[in-house]
Amino acid sequence: MSLRRAHIVYILFILICTQTFAEDGSQLWLRFEKVSAEISAKRTIKTKSVDPTVLLAKQELEDYWKGNNVELLIDRKLTKLKDGFKITSSGSKLQIVANKPAGLLYAAYHILQKQNEGAEITHYNVEEIPSYDIRILNHWDNLDRTVERGYAGYSLWKWAELPQVLSPRYEEYARANASIGINATVLNNVNASPQILTPEYLTKVKALADIFRKYGIKVYLSVNFSSPKVIGGLENSDPLNKDVQLWWKNKVKEIYQLIPDFGGFLVKANSEGQPGPQDYGRTHADGANMLADAIKPYSGMIMWRAFVYNPTKEDRAKQAYQEFVPLDGQFRDNVIIQIKNGPIDFQPREPFTPLFGAMRNTAQMVEFQITQEYLGFSNHLVYLAPLFKETLDSDAYADGAGTTIAKITDGTVRKISKSAIAGVANIGEDVNWTGHHFAQANWFAFGKLAWNHQLSSEDIAKEWLKLTFTKDETFVKDVTDMMLTSRETVVNYMMPLGLHHIFAFDHHYGPEPWGNMPGGRADWMPWYYHNANEKGVGFNRTTSGSNAVVQYNEPLRSLFNDIQTCPENLILWFHHVSWDHKMKSGLTLWEEICTHYDRGVQDVRAYQRLWDKMESYVDAQRFKEIQSKLKIQIKDAVWWKDACLLYFQTFSRKPIPYYIERPI
Ligand code: GCU
Repeated sequence: MSLRRAHIVYILFILICTQTFAEDGSQLWLRFEKVSAEISAKRTIKTKSVDPTVLLAKQELEDYWKGNNVELLIDRKLTKLKDGFKITSSGSKLQIVANKPAGLLYAAYHILQKQNEGAEITHYNVEEIPSYDIRILNHWDNLDRTVERGYAGYSLWKWAELPQVLSPRYEEYARANASIGINATVLNNVNASPQILTPEYLTKVKALADIFRKYGIKVYLSVNFSSPKVIGGLENSDPLNKDVQLWWKNKVKEIYQLIPDFGGFLVKANSEGQPGPQDYGRTHADGANMLADAIKPYSGMIMWRAFVYNPTKEDRAKQAYQEFVPLDGQFRDNVIIQIKNGPIDFQPREPFTPLFGAMRNTAQMVEFQITQEYLGFSNHLVYLAPLFKETLDSDAYADGAGTTIAKITDGTVRKISKSAIAGVANIGEDVNWTGHHFAQANWFAFGKLAWNHQLSSEDIAKEWLKLTFTKDETFVKDVTDMMLTSRETVVNYMMPLGLHHIFAFDHHYGPEPWGNMPGGRADWMPWYYHNANEKGVGFNRTTSGSNAVVQYNEPLRSLFNDIQTCPENLILWFHHVSWDHKMKSGLTLWEEICTHYDRGVQDVRAYQRLWDKMESYVDAQRFKEIQSKLKIQIKDAVWWKDACLLYFQTFSRKPIPYYIERPI
């Protein structure tokens, strides 16, 4: 071979290698191995259906299923399966039955994931019925492609080139969602531009809906309550105005003509300056019902958010409950009240929002935030399944013991026409989709828990690690441990013991417990939440304070109200506590705060050491990128510790214990 040819061959070789081994995270957890021609010649994947979703399920199995023959069946009588499935094995064949085409697709991904784990699938019998009917992502994506609280680059949706140009990532996105059971997506920000409802944008939305359909994903839109006035040219957007009602009816009709399986609307109304029915002296029920009536003929849903608060004298944590409980029973059955997991705003730890279960005759759903607005953006490794589970497993005692948030929202304790769960997406156009490789785990965990809220955080972490990195036992065990503790770690170095909202103003990245803006809204100032003074720190929400405890059912009300019984991880949420208060550990509150901040830092240092040991298990690119992110995380953790302890020390006037890492 001439030198020149050898050179070309070498370059080709390098190119092929980098193609094959490029480990940029773009493949997410979908790294199934293609089956060999030999295996695929040996087994058959059969179906009589010609439905595109079923054919897709068939194709995925053709490509990746190494096991026995498979038969895919739709049984329209098996409605109890919802969009779940039943797998039975007999002889050399697996039979998969579902009530809906999407059920077969979920089953296909299910067995491919089990196959990856090395499960014995030749004798595999399982029935899976999803916990929630609607498992929905909320994108906070703006039409200019910025993403509110998004830390993975610009929006995936390239509005300017839609509908003519269809990025291949739209389909990859849909496949990733289907592989974890997500069946719905809200494309645009809750702070919604009215433009999304113009004919121009609706044709773009249709293009996306057409791609997602095959993957069982329905499209929803966030709508601006003032749309009739802003883009319809009406005099106002009063929900009791007949012209406004007609405008929405026509708009809904126009949408369904384009997108026959359109899901519905998500609405942020009279919240943080957004317009809403109260602008016209109407209630949230008036507003929601007007939209619900317009969309009902098409079986569409209205997800109406309960994230409402105003700068009044009333404790912000109480306001959603006060606003919505009096409206209980007034909402149409195609309205679901979408409630953030905590009463303030996606803090590292909050108690659950007491509105859950308090509305006995109104459907409710949880809204989690997968994007890490208050958890170090896409720089910090924080595995969120434990946070999601903490809320879902919380007992609200709405109908006595055992009335967990999961059971209230999934329709177990009270029948609801459709149950739902939402997660604010952490996805953007970054090559690895989520900015941090480990943030992919939070997208994955949300989907898995929406499908089955009984799964443990540990099992989900293990499954994700095996699919995403390697099945090596040492790696999986050690990294699972790191993931499982990571949420508590971030709580420790940011806001331990129930401290909350002491973030830097507006962007919410670093600490700013001292933040103050003369004339600014009190309920956006950190001191409103921490109330530090020379006596102590914390928000008194007991009967002697804002009395937010009264919104919780017994025994929680008394438990939270009494400083002796209040769980210590929420003590500063519910109490203003003396610096000298003796904690269960025997330390004073001040020492305990110092210890928690320090523990957070030490744990991140331990994660760094652990990750360094994982080098041989992981490809170089992802290893390095995660290692670099951990460097940011430790820098930030130290920053949080030093900033918060120095600030609070100006009130406590006590020394920082000798064992706390310096410098402070
Ligand atoms: C938070 C967040 C906002 C968002 C709002 C919401 O306040 O900082 O960016 O719009 O929540 O959930 O509506």
